[in-house]
Amino acid sequence: DASDIEKGTYPHYMLKEIDEQPAVVRKIVQTYRNEQGDLNIDEGIVKAMNDADRIYIIAAGTSYHAGLVGKQFIEKLAKVPVEVHISSEFGYNMPLLSEKPLFIFISQSGETADSRAVLVEIKELGYKALTITNVPGSTLSREADYTLLLHAGPEIAVASTKAYTAQLAVLAILAEVTAKSRGMNVDFDLTQELGIVANAMDVLCGAKEEFEEIAREYLATTRNCFFIGRGIDFYVGLEGALKLKEISYIQAEGFAGGELKHGTIALIENGTPVVALATQESVNLSIRGNVKEVAARGANPCIISMKGLETDEDRFVIPEVHGLLTPLISVIPLQLISYYAALHRECDVDKPRNLAKSVTVE
Ligand code: G6P
Repeated sequence: DASDIEKGTYPHYMLKEIDEQPAVVRKIVQTYRNEQGDLNIDEGIVKAMNDADRIYIIAAGTSYHAGLVGKQFIEKLAKVPVEVHISSEFGYNMPLLSEKPLFIFISQSGETADSRAVLVEIKELGYKALTITNVPGSTLSREADYTLLLHAGPEIAVASTKAYTAQLAVLAILAEVTAKSRGMNVDFDLTQELGIVANAMDVLCGAKEEFEEIAREYLATTRNCFFIGRGIDFYVGLEGALKLKEISYIQAEGFAGGELKHGTIALIENGTPVVALATQESVNLSIRGNVKEVAARGANPCIISMKGLETDEDRFVIPEVHGLLTPLISVIPLQLISYYAALHRECDVDKPRNLAKSVTVE
């Protein structure tokens, strides 16, 4: 309940929750470590993951965006095929299911009605479900076979921030533990890499003036803004666009870099802000090619790259983390830019118009 949780010296819950992200990642690592220091997930869950021939992730909003990244974690590390579905679409548009599906529900609140409707339906079909949620005892947790908790502490601001990064951290741990139990080679130490992520988050949370400046420069008066990226950066761009829409009411969309030329580029006008994420070595040249294409048509590009991949044209360079884990930190500049854009435009940051923290009607 919002009334029991203090904002302390923070002007808004959203800013407080953004700042809590390094501590949340550290808490998750600590909580999921066993006495030997290994990352550990309940045996029943690992068995369910291993028994599945395909995983179906079901979620809405920001949790859906976390699911898109989670698919990459699970497929790349554990080599189990994953589909990600928007819960409100799944019900009447059910895909052909595999022989042995496992359903993973991702929900900060554990109360989203559209997700619950899918859970009820797949339980009737006799399938197993795992819920990843921030709220112990929530409906989706109680009605699923298994639960993994986010340990992010209550999230009050309507725009989700720390729950997203917590979802990614827990999904990474689930993917790693499953991979190891399947005998897959994981060639990095996730505990250590998540420690590096938490430190990088500290750096980003300490660079607020920079993001305030970017927000003022690009977003103070614009009517729209695009986010582009390729691969995992594309999914973070979707989340960045959602944050901006939710709290600043700027029309914002995330696009895959390669899709631009198939329509979206027609929307570029003189001065249109285009935030480009460049954290992935394999697509670094291609995304920079897309930036040139939009810049040639008058766009105002804002490149956010990662240390090691940076060039002189970049507006901000995030610290280097493991290539698979970049979404945990590249999202923070986007959260902060949205926050300051909303402030500039005098919007109600914590309680944006027309939105609810959890949507409990279908
Ligand atoms: C609402 C919230 C979003 C959230 C979505 C899913 O629309 O405003 O921030 O991402 O519901 O919520 P859940 O609790 O299921 O993650």
